[in-house]
Amino acid sequence: MSEAALILIKPDGLKKSLTGNILTRLSETKLEIVGSKMVRVPRSLAEEHYKHLKDKPFFNEIVQYLQGELHDRKKVMALVYWGEDAIKKCRDLAGATNPEEADPTSIRGSYGRITTSGVYENAVHVSSNPSEAEREIKLWFSPDELIVDLYPKKEVVEKEFKRKLWA
Ligand code: TYD
Repeated sequence: MSEAALILIKPDGLKKSLTGNILTRLSETKLEIVGSKMVRVPRSLAEEHYKHLKDKPFFNEIVQYLQGELHDRKKVMALVYWGEDAIKKCRDLAGATNPEEADPTSIRGSYGRITTSGVYENAVHVSSNPSEAEREIKLWFSPDELIVDLYPKKEVVEKEFKRKLWA
């Protein structure tokens, strides 16, 4: 069944210039990229993304990590991969959450590390199941930023909506 997965190349992946390597690994899946962008991550977005871990002792650090506060790279690359078994294919390539337990040939096994304070810097995020993927994709992307219709959408007319155009 075709499904979508949110992938984030996290600030450590960007700082280590791993974008190309990670995209090359992910291309082995033969999935389609249907959305991609660079995002400067506000705290509210990082907190919402990791809300299922709100009660964990490392919550504040992973929020800071996703914001780029630990890497002097205040951005992440967000992508949506789409196709047959997208989540399993991407998670298999990403490897286990803990980089030391991840298969050494996986993305996290190759490029991840555990910091001295114990946070897993694992280079990528991959959605864990279809409902989390839907929640995360809706959090990171608007319908207009995806080239396929993944989820039902509605049209609204916004008056006095301020946005930037090229001058
Ligand atoms: P989680 O959502 O459990 O894993 P995954 O990213 O594989 O879906 O955890 C989110 C992030 O939190 C994870 O990528 C790295 C970090 N983390 C730690 O630093 N320590 C931990 O013990 C866990 C479980 C996660």
